[in-house]
Amino acid sequence: MTAQLNPRGDVAVLVPAAGAGVRLGPGGPKALRTLAGEPLLVHAVRRLAAADSVHTVVVAAPAAEVDLVRRLLAPVAPVTVVPGGAERQASVAAALAVVPAGPEIVLVHDAARALTPPDLIESVAAAVRAGHDAVIPVLPVVDTIRRVDAGEQALGTVDRSTLRSVQTPQGFRRSVLAAAHAAAADSLTDDAGLVERQGVPVRCVPGSDYAIKITRPFDLTLAEHLLAAGA
Ligand code: CTP
Ligand code: MG
Repeated sequence: MTAQLNPRGDVAVLVPAAGAGVRLGPGGPKALRTLAGEPLLVHAVRRLAAADSVHTVVVAAPAAEVDLVRRLLAPVAPVTVVPGGAERQASVAAALAVVPAGPEIVLVHDAARALTPPDLIESVAAAVRAGHDAVIPVLPVVDTIRRVDAGEQALGTVDRSTLRSVQTPQGFRRSVLAAAHAAAADSLTDDAGLVERQGVPVRCVPGSDYAIKITRPFDLTLAEHLLAAGA
């Protein structure tokens, strides 16, 4: 039996949390690294549980830590925990496989984006509800972007007005995400990329500065400050 949050919600959220966190440096799987004394995954799930539309949360945990993750999340929200895979895409597929009948909107959300506001979760879900089969939150690119060659010789500047940084949660009509995963032959870093290959248009909505992906030690320090400032 899969645990439920809001039984009247129409959204299932898949949380890939099985990564090693190599770029964060030594210290164990990233989702279990602490921010203000609590694992990143606890912060992420607490924010998901605060979004009223969320019916079900399925976490793909590091395979060796499934029991620990269940214990950590039990006091936070009623979530289902499955072992993740070697690639992010396999972790998402493992979580998708246990979503119960009911929710017709599926969001995929990185545990590493631990400070994502509940409002962003709702705005992505709302765009799917409004009829977009695939929705991604994006931010404009602020730096000048250049192409370089293999020797770090600068080539041309890219027109950044046509570029966006992509965040999660990414939202999908359930059948569309399921079909894209069933057809996936190789691995991509995001789910909207898989869906787009199936010919489904991907809609952009405004992202959030707080939905940063905690990737390097600097990001963890930044997140500590954001949290201390009320994020
Ligand atoms: N992820 C996952 N299963 C994997 C790899 C990644 O569930 N086999 C998850 C991570 O736990 C994270 C999200 O996908 O929440 C985004 O991945 P990333 O930020 O790259 O995290 P890691 O893979 O853990 O970090 P690194 O690439 O530095 O090792
Ligand atoms: Mg990774």
